[in-house]
Amino acid sequence: QQVEPFDYVIFGATGDLTMRKLLPALYNRLRMDQIPDDACIIGAARTELDREAYVARARDALERFLPSDILSPGLVERFLARLDYVTLDSSREGPQWENLKALLAKTQPDRVRVYYFATAPQLYGGISENLHRYGLITPTSRVVLEKPIGTDMATATAINDGVGQYFPEKQIYRIDHYLGKETVQNVLALRFANPLMNAAWSAEHIESVQITAAETVGVEGRAAYYDTSGALRDMIQNHLLQVLCLVAMEAPDSLEADAVRNAKLAVLNALRPITDATAATETVRAQYTAGVVDGENVPGYLEELGKPSATETYAAIRAWVDTPRWKGVPFYIRTAKRSGRKVSEIVITFRPAATTMFGATPASNRLVLRVQPNEGVELRLNVKNPALDVYNLHTADLDAKIRMEGGMPFPDSYERLLLDAVRGDPVLFIRRDEVEAAWRWAEPILDAWKHDKVPMQTYSAGSYGPEQATRLLAGHGDTWHEAA
Ligand code: BG6
Repeated sequence: QQVEPFDYVIFGATGDLTMRKLLPALYNRLRMDQIPDDACIIGAARTELDREAYVARARDALERFLPSDILSPGLVERFLARLDYVTLDSSREGPQWENLKALLAKTQPDRVRVYYFATAPQLYGGISENLHRYGLITPTSRVVLEKPIGTDMATATAINDGVGQYFPEKQIYRIDHYLGKETVQNVLALRFANPLMNAAWSAEHIESVQITAAETVGVEGRAAYYDTSGALRDMIQNHLLQVLCLVAMEAPDSLEADAVRNAKLAVLNALRPITDATAATETVRAQYTAGVVDGENVPGYLEELGKPSATETYAAIRAWVDTPRWKGVPFYIRTAKRSGRKVSEIVITFRPAATTMFGATPASNRLVLRVQPNEGVELRLNVKNPALDVYNLHTADLDAKIRMEGGMPFPDSYERLLLDAVRGDPVLFIRRDEVEAAWRWAEPILDAWKHDKVPMQTYSAGSYGPEQATRLLAGHGDTWHEAA
């Protein structure tokens, strides 16, 4: 469905995220006829460029990051015609802001205005202040904040306070692109629309939960950012905790934004703190060394970086949600750069049937929610082994592939989220108290690591992580699920 005409101002418009994700996502929505022809997309960045030079960069980005079969020349021109650019150091006051003001003055002041902050997060407060100073915040303005919101609680508070001084919370959209992924959204449908699942969704029937996001890529051109972040800040504090919340939360009263966010917040608040005393048994951190990924030799993290570093490229954590529903159920979370395979999934292992009828204990039912690739849901069942007359069991998988009509690829998670901000639907965005609750849990882990309570392990690029991560599960008789 087409949205109302809007002005989208992207700060950080020459950066990697804008080129790789935001412009391609907006192009795709235009291609699907969801963006009206009088919408404006204005890039703002420090680089001195005129409109023409920016449009040329945008054209290159579309060609580079989108498959050629969806790039029809007519549509590309229609998209590029929507673009404009202002050279602007957004963290400073100055006459350059008048140029942005002049561009925005060309359209109706009551149009939806989205300010997308894709810059260094420490600039968010300053940009908001300048937007206010130059009179650019209208009642129909909203701001989208890219992650990371801070590197700890103090910096997150500073960013949220800085933006919050000029934008009320309901105009602030904190983006977490994992919430834009189809299977992640499907967690709620699967749980609450299927009594079969809902009835079994607790410690009584569930033995453990695993949440994995592994990537084959390394730090690419982002080493300067990544080395100040690491796997816990980059993936777990935000994406994987959000996924954990959807798996663990109580049923919200509705799918209204605040109902869903309250239910997620309750999970974050119920996460058992990990302290200096428990970090060594509950967490594993590691860096990749040289290895082979997808048949290619790749250097180790420290070699890529060219200097010593205590930043982890792998993290695995055993988390506990201290609510009656999840008593005694470990939530294993892990994420890796330079893993052997790109896979994001949620694996629910159920308790095995308490029967002696078949001799050996039947295998546990296991539900795998494949976030990517190959989106779908897989359920392992016990069936009689047809090769044998006696009641010998073996397992069979029910596999529901989730596909778009006509076998089209899934839209990138940014596509939906970018337009949700225009529509004013915040349900898939994060509220301030969620960010803070996530930091409250993550920060003591980072502190324990900083105090060297947990040794830094290594794993070869192309492997599935360090041996120590296996031991995290072994005490409970579990093993990591390796996607087929
Ligand atoms: C980003 C992280 O938020 O998510 C990146 O900063 C990571 O380091 C990316 O590569 C992973 O996203 P996806 O959608 O490829 O799983």
